[in-house]
Amino acid sequence: MDTEEFRRRGKEMIDYVADYLENIRDRPVYPEIEQGYLRKLIPAAAPQQPESWNAVFQDIERVIMPGVTHWHSPRFHAYFPCGNSWPGILADILSDAIGCIGFSWAASPACTELETVMMDWLAQLLGLPEHFMFSSKGPGGGVIQGTASEACYVALLAAKSRAIRNAKPQYPDLSDEEIASKLICYESEQAHTAAERAAMLAFVKCRPLSTDQDLSLRGEVLEIAINEDKGKGLIPFYVLATLGTTGCCAFDNLKELGAICQAQDIWLHVDAAYAGSAFICPEFRSYLEGVELADSFNFNPHKWMLVNFDCSALWLRDSSLLVRAFMIDLPILIKQPEHGEAMPDYRHWQIALGRRFRSLKLWFIMRLYGVEGLQKYIREQVNLAHEFERMVNKDGRFEIVIPVRLGLACFRLRLEDDSDKLNEKLLDEINKTRLIHLTHTKVHGRYVIRFAICSRFTNLKDIEYSWHIIQKVAESVLQAEAQTSNSTNN
Ligand SMILES: Cc1ncc(COP(=O)(O)O)c(C=O)c1O
Repeated sequence: MDTEEFRRRGKEMIDYVADYLENIRDRPVYPEIEQGYLRKLIPAAAPQQPESWNAVFQDIERVIMPGVTHWHSPRFHAYFPCGNSWPGILADILSDAIGCIGFSWAASPACTELETVMMDWLAQLLGLPEHFMFSSKGPGGGVIQGTASEACYVALLAAKSRAIRNAKPQYPDLSDEEIASKLICYESEQAHTAAERAAMLAFVKCRPLSTDQDLSLRGEVLEIAINEDKGKGLIPFYVLATLGTTGCCAFDNLKELGAICQAQDIWLHVDAAYAGSAFICPEFRSYLEGVELADSFNFNPHKWMLVNFDCSALWLRDSSLLVRAFMIDLPILIKQPEHGEAMPDYRHWQIALGRRFRSLKLWFIMRLYGVEGLQKYIREQVNLAHEFERMVNKDGRFEIVIPVRLGLACFRLRLEDDSDKLNEKLLDEINKTRLIHLTHTKVHGRYVIRFAICSRFTNLKDIEYSWHIIQKVAESVLQAEAQTSNSTNN
């Protein structure tokens, strides 16, 4: 493909992408294929001779689309949203064209510099404390990671390294590894598995803690656990608080947890992967109370801020603790110039050396939507979740399990025997229609169906449509159950 063909094919591809997203409502949300479908559709090895563009282009519909779960369909209500917008897609094209690996300032100055400014813009957008911003001229600052899981892991490794250093005077005869074997971190039982996995990978103990009736981790529970573990000779060093849990969008009590962490010199990391975007709207910021006590905070603009995957924003109160944990000086890497503003060397802020120019999509999106456009988007999505909640509440056969806070509704069939079996069956049958797609979670041990507002194309008509499908499927599941129990009784 030469430049001229690239220009032509590029325009065709943009048209294809625009048509795909514009007409996505017409495609079944979930594919009807069996595992292994794709291998049967393409040759077993790469072609010896180049193929034509048309051959490749036609295979998008023949090979790929039949196996795509359409995350941006307005009837996709599973998991949490995955960001997507025209400006985000265009920014990624530019990032691919520049194609730099911005591991240090010198490796591509704009890549580092735009990221530092965008992380400050984002922090202001969410109302985060100033000490997280580069503009505060303190040790704080932000970095774009690929995912929230990486952000949790990176923060935990920084906390681990600090904890080992701090424990040295008390345990002068122990090696770092022996001290590490005493370290323990905490999370709520509602936290994402990313937290537990981070602890597993870092070889530290992790203790999930129980939550209150609102599924919130409270200070008292944490304090009891810390005292118990200290009594056993362990060293509590890291608490992961979640704002907007994956299962039900519950919020841990940052104020209470933060006060304990400060008093006990424990690192507090806040995972707001999904809910973070809502803090663009001041009316949702009460959940943020206590964030000034956190050592690190992350959220995924690639979930709910219209930013295409991947883009997870992580801030640190003291970035030198992360750099100290990660730094290995490689002589081949060019040093920063002596003059000008100090810039972070982002290679020391993440696991990989290489990094994409991801701040471009933040820049495009924040400029092209503006703060008001982003607020409008979040508010509309929250309103749609409340509309769905109202529909569920009007139908006596169902119950809302936890009040809707943001864009997620959790509901189930209200059953005399309170059984999970029928709710499981209901979700199964709903997803079999392939017209809408939902997932489930467990709340206090009970099976609950999650309905998330995910696509930027979802409107009230789509919610009414989805609710209609849910009601219709529920009717047939309940009828089938009634017939079965009648015939058993006869
Ligand atoms: C609260 C929370 N934390 C972490 C994650 C993991 O996100 P990622 O895929 O960015 O690692 C999720 C995913 O939904 C989440 O909801």
